[in-house]
Amino acid sequence: METTANANVDYRALVLDDRINGRVYYDPAIFRDEIDRIWHREWIYVAHESEVPEPGDYVMRQVGMQPVIVSRDEDGQVHLLLNRCMHRGNTVCQSERGNAHAFRCAYHGWTYNNRGDLVGVPYAAGYGTAFNKREYALARVPRMAAYRGLIFASLSAEGPTLMDRLGASARLIDQFVDLSPAGEIVVRSGVLKHSYRGNWKMALENSVDGYHPNILHHAAMAMMTRGKNSMETIFGEGSEALTRDLGNGAAQLDLNPVNVRNGGRVVPPGWSKGAYDEYRAAMERHYGAARGQRIIAEGPPHFCIAPNIIFILNQLRVIQPVSAEETVISYYPTLLKDAPAELNNRRLSETYLIHGPAGRVAPDDFEAYERNQAGFQARVNEWLVLRRGLHRENREADGALTGHETDETTQRAIWRYYREAMTREG
Ligand code: FES
Ligand SMILES: [Fe+2]
Repeated sequence: METTANANVDYRALVLDDRINGRVYYDPAIFRDEIDRIWHREWIYVAHESEVPEPGDYVMRQVGMQPVIVSRDEDGQVHLLLNRCMHRGNTVCQSERGNAHAFRCAYHGWTYNNRGDLVGVPYAAGYGTAFNKREYALARVPRMAAYRGLIFASLSAEGPTLMDRLGASARLIDQFVDLSPAGEIVVRSGVLKHSYRGNWKMALENSVDGYHPNILHHAAMAMMTRGKNSMETIFGEGSEALTRDLGNGAAQLDLNPVNVRNGGRVVPPGWSKGAYDEYRAAMERHYGAARGQRIIAEGPPHFCIAPNIIFILNQLRVIQPVSAEETVISYYPTLLKDAPAELNNRRLSETYLIHGPAGRVAPDDFEAYERNQAGFQARVNEWLVLRRGLHRENREADGALTGHETDETTQRAIWRYYREAMTREG
């Protein structure tokens, strides 16, 4: 991976307000620029604190292309360590998750504790008496910050704080987490990983594309609602839902009005009244009656924060670019702490029924990405249209831009952020 940005690409000429050039989805030089300017600079979501609840727990992740270990030490502190031995660069951790008090490099046996300190070197006399182990601790990700248990990392030592970066999307994270009667989500139910032959930005755009569900997923939608809710009222021209640009690459499909009318998407169809009553009582105890009921009625928010995290239904989805034309997405189902087991079990089954390899919805989207990537081979006219609803957007009092549910306000939000990030000085 080259690390120098390619100054020859004019991103302002490729990303216009109402159209984008297909080259941004396949050009390897552009991909390298994105890694430098976005993935190795911006705040990137890495893990949830509940994935490493006990001392010694760790998970192996990536920040852009860089392998990292998220570990919790004996004092309960979380560390973000680069997974690269200080001797000759081997990765020191090979397991996706586990519990370890030390990471021992398999090559020559240098050993690091879960704070990253070098604690053991075989045949140490060979380095002489001046050798100071303290100088060879595992490198750390320069900045780490968490919000509501979500841990983000930035490989840049400078830049906006996480809270500045999250901006208006922080309150949507609140909406997602507050569905728990304890105000906490738990991310320990495994992961569904999908890879596709397509560019990473497609999954981000698709996550908040309100134009496609009633068309691409028409069969699934008809089956899931069994004709009870007209999909027209959620994802069609008659929808009361909105697309919203929250700034900084955060974009939302605001389904709150639809959810309130339908009793909240937190309530998967078919669960027992007893469990629902128990959940509602727990919510009212924690938040008070009015707020507890409102949280249930509004249900989970549906949004993304560029470049790599998406919140849909009960899941966190995390985007990992592999190359210009290859991406992996991890779907992490979340549980609501202190919610009835029946509700959490339904959240889990919703994940595999809708988004598993034979799920009702996700395979359609992956097929769409791969057809997109195939279509980009046709290069006589490379422009893609991004103008749906441009003439009918509204500005809300707090500055957020909204559009009709089927409009591309959300895609434009992502591309505005992208152009800004790719042309920023310094
Ligand atoms: S590369 Fe890790 S001990 Fe040599
Ligand atoms: Fe979709």
